[in-house]
Amino acid sequence: MVSRAAILALLVLVLIPPITAARDHHGFRATLTPIQQLSPGKHSDAVRRDSHRIALLSYAATAVSKATTNSSVNVQALLENIQGGYNMNLSIGTPPRTFPVTVDTGSSLIWTQCAPCTKCFDLPDTPPFQPASSSTFSKLPCTSNFCQVIPNSSRSCNATGCMYHGTYGVGYTAGYLAMETINVGESSFPNVAFGCSTENGADNSSSGIVGLNRGPLSLVSQLGVGRFSYCLRSYTDAGESPILFGSLANLTDAKVQSTPLIKNPALTRSSFYYVNLTGITVGSTDLPITRTTFAFTETGLGGGTIVDSGTTLTHLIKEGYAMVRQAFVSQMGNLTAVNGTQFGLDLCFGTSGGGELQGVPALVLRFEGGAEYAVPRRSYFDVVAVDSRGRPAVECLLVIPAREDLSISIIGNVLQMDLHVLYDLDGEMFSFAPADCTKV
Ligand SMILES: *[C@@H]1O[C@H](CO)[C@@H](O)[C@H](O)[C@H]1NC(C)=O
Ligand SMILES: *[C@@H]1O[C@H](CO)[C@@H](O)[C@H](O)[C@H]1NC(C)=O
Ligand SMILES: *[C@@H]1O[C@H](CO)[C@@H](O)[C@H](O)[C@H]1NC(C)=O
Ligand SMILES: *[C@@H]1O[C@H](CO)[C@@H](O)[C@H](O)[C@H]1NC(C)=O
Ligand SMILES: *[C@@H]1O[C@H](CO)[C@@H](O)[C@H](O)[C@H]1NC(C)=O
Ligand SMILES: *[C@@H]1O[C@H](CO)[C@@H](O)[C@H](O)[C@H]1NC(C)=O
Ligand SMILES: *[C@@H]1O[C@H](CO)[C@@H](O)[C@H](O)[C@H]1NC(C)=O
Ligand SMILES: *[C@@H]1O[C@H](CO)[C@@H](O)[C@H](O)[C@H]1NC(C)=O
Ligand SMILES: *[C@@H]1O[C@H](CO)[C@@H](O)[C@H](O)[C@H]1NC(C)=O
Repeated sequence: MVSRAAILALLVLVLIPPITAARDHHGFRATLTPIQQLSPGKHSDAVRRDSHRIALLSYAATAVSKATTNSSVNVQALLENIQGGYNMNLSIGTPPRTFPVTVDTGSSLIWTQCAPCTKCFDLPDTPPFQPASSSTFSKLPCTSNFCQVIPNSSRSCNATGCMYHGTYGVGYTAGYLAMETINVGESSFPNVAFGCSTENGADNSSSGIVGLNRGPLSLVSQLGVGRFSYCLRSYTDAGESPILFGSLANLTDAKVQSTPLIKNPALTRSSFYYVNLTGITVGSTDLPITRTTFAFTETGLGGGTIVDSGTTLTHLIKEGYAMVRQAFVSQMGNLTAVNGTQFGLDLCFGTSGGGELQGVPALVLRFEGGAEYAVPRRSYFDVVAVDSRGRPAVECLLVIPAREDLSISIIGNVLQMDLHVLYDLDGEMFSFAPADCTKV
């Protein structure tokens, strides 16, 4: 069992002057492709990757408390489980070279492997970027604001420039900051700061990441994009999904629901996308969710619910999960329970006769401001094992309990499928509407 990616956790000071003026924007678009299929038999791998990723999200939060008691410190993490997510093509340099990099709403840095490598993942289709072959490449000096936002503990400066390094658990990445012309879809942007990683440890899974959180180094921050949206097609469709930036990221559907993007009071400039999950209905049961169930914990470092592109399943903190589980169990009492451990999941049922399970209760999530999400069935309850004739044998709830030591709840990408979701950074709102992603 190999780990899936290299990691860099960055603590980022926020009392830094704004780095970029907003650039002039017409919208632009690109396409996303799923890195892996979530087909029957693949769920336990997905859960394992999720668990690494959540450990990192949590590590990022606790690192704040350990690093300093100064609450103006912000957290970014370059995360694991990039194989559970989606790739987007980023073309870098002049002439441009194309890299499929993982879109990550949980991290900030844009990075790719750069030659000459001390140690790089061996990716036959995507050899490392060659800075010497690009006429627009330049290294960033340590005095640059981009370098200064990387915390002291994760950077060092020498004649090479602004060196960053991050290590966590089994993953590792290190390199230096540089500037390049970056193309996304049909649009070209000069002077974008990115990480040239020359040392990557522990896995061979990706040529890089494009960070989309609110941190100053992220693509959306650097390009001054006030909003972005995506619409993930179901894993079973295996097709391309759209991602839209700037004015093109516009949700005009009549059924659009909106809820504020909220701040963790202890991490006021946190770069995660937190929403306020206020209620859950399972079938006929309105669960007794209170304002404390998914609230931030008293220390402020835990709790809360984030929307994340790179986590596969949906993870709810213990108390909230227990209510959800209880409601499903009591409404599916006539079905045959199956131990979900072998699938990495918790609540599973055997199907009889090879058909889809009947009588699975509906799941509705409610958010601050009255936004409601009636989750499509295959986004929360799906086939995880088939019989010898390829017919459904076991179906499971794709919502699982968060690890005990990690108190954050995460809305993963499976739950976001067939939904057009909009991150309105300027308006501090998260909006969504059911959609046919092939028509967005
Ligand atoms: C990314 O680029 C490669 C090669 O340039 C192309 O084959 C692939 O279809 C592109 N993928 C997406 C999602 O646009
Ligand atoms: C927090 O850090 C900032 C920047 O390093 C500093 O200006 C501020 O005084 C610090 N606040 C506290 C309470 O230490
Ligand atoms: C980084 O931190 C170390 C120890 O905490 C300190 O000695 C050093 O001066 C700091 N460097 C910068 C550039 O702030
Ligand atoms: C700068 O530091 C990095 C990592 O610490 C090292 O690999 C590199 O050789 C150094 N460059 C110079 C010019 O000293
Ligand atoms: C790359 O990773 C895959 C699984 O993620 C593994 O099967 C393969 O052996 C790895 N290759 C190398 C060269 O490490
Ligand atoms: C979104 O579309 C609506 C209707 O087409 C338009 O009125 C509005 O200005 C657009 N918003 C943005 C940010 O482009
Ligand atoms: C499920 O199976 C695992 C081992 O395969 C076992 O440890 C666990 O106790 C079982 N759970 C239940 C509820 O039987
Ligand atoms: C279980 O009960 C539900 C209604 O409560 C029904 O729709 C479903 O068909 C039943 N399933 C089985 C296997 O009997
Ligand atoms: C979440 O929404 C509820 C209900 O509107 C409110 O009482 C609570 O303070 C909100 N929590 C946060 C962290 O904003």
